[in-house]
Amino acid sequence: MCALTGKKAIVTGGASGIGRAVAVLFAQAGATVSVVDLDEPKGSAVVGAIIAAGGQAMFIRADVSRAEDCQNAVAETASALGGGAIINNASGWGLTGGGRAAVYCASKDAVVNLTRVMAIDHGAKNIRVNCIAPGDTDTSMLRDEAKQLGEPVDAFLKDSADRPLGCISRPEEIAAAVLYLASDAASFVTGAILTVDGGSLAD
Ligand SMILES: NC(=O)c1ccc[n+]([C@@H]2O[C@H](COP(=O)([O-])OP(=O)(O)OC[C@H]3O[C@@H](n4cnc5c(N)ncnc54)[C@H](O)[C@@H]3O)[C@@H](O)[C@H]2O)c1
Repeated sequence: MCALTGKKAIVTGGASGIGRAVAVLFAQAGATVSVVDLDEPKGSAVVGAIIAAGGQAMFIRADVSRAEDCQNAVAETASALGGGAIINNASGWGLTGGGRAAVYCASKDAVVNLTRVMAIDHGAKNIRVNCIAPGDTDTSMLRDEAKQLGEPVDAFLKDSADRPLGCISRPEEIAAAVLYLASDAASFVTGAILTVDGGSLAD
């Protein structure tokens, strides 16, 4: 149900963390993956790992804050796109507030509602637009956050595990939710916000 055989996928931020896990999983599911990132060495390493495992991938260096880079990444991946699925990456902090993170929370809240608007605007073209809202996930971003806040990384990660399932997420667990939303198993799902946070927001 979650196969992506013959599909083309663009994974932004694909050189690290959640994006890396999505790129690897999508390739395993049969997609040809464009790993899009600022970080060429790490992105190329992800592509190398996918190809070594028998998958298909290429690296495209792009700054996703630049419209021209995004247009080029799409053009390099596929000359013509019909239908498809977009999965935005928000955060649990797009659904609730978090201390000392005003800009992050505001921007993630914007991603949540952007997802709904895009689902409305593009539904007629059979483009589904959904969003994941991950909880704390063990990536370089989370470890950098601890450093930025001046907190010991191990203690920060331990505190972050305080949620119903009692642990933070692995990037692969977020990637599995992204795969579902990209696949035909979610053929009637659009405009949805899928929380993947070990129950944090339920608590
Ligand atoms: N890790 C968490 O706990 C967590 C929780 C909720 C949401 N998220 C969201 O998940 C997404 C991925 O985070 P992550 O934890 O995997 O981080 P990460 O630091 O492991 O990976 C981020 C990647 O994005 C790339 N990148 C950054 N700016 C870019 C740009 N302008 N253009 C192209 N590439 C760029 C970086 O080079 C890096 O490879 C982010 O949107 C983050 O807000 C993460």
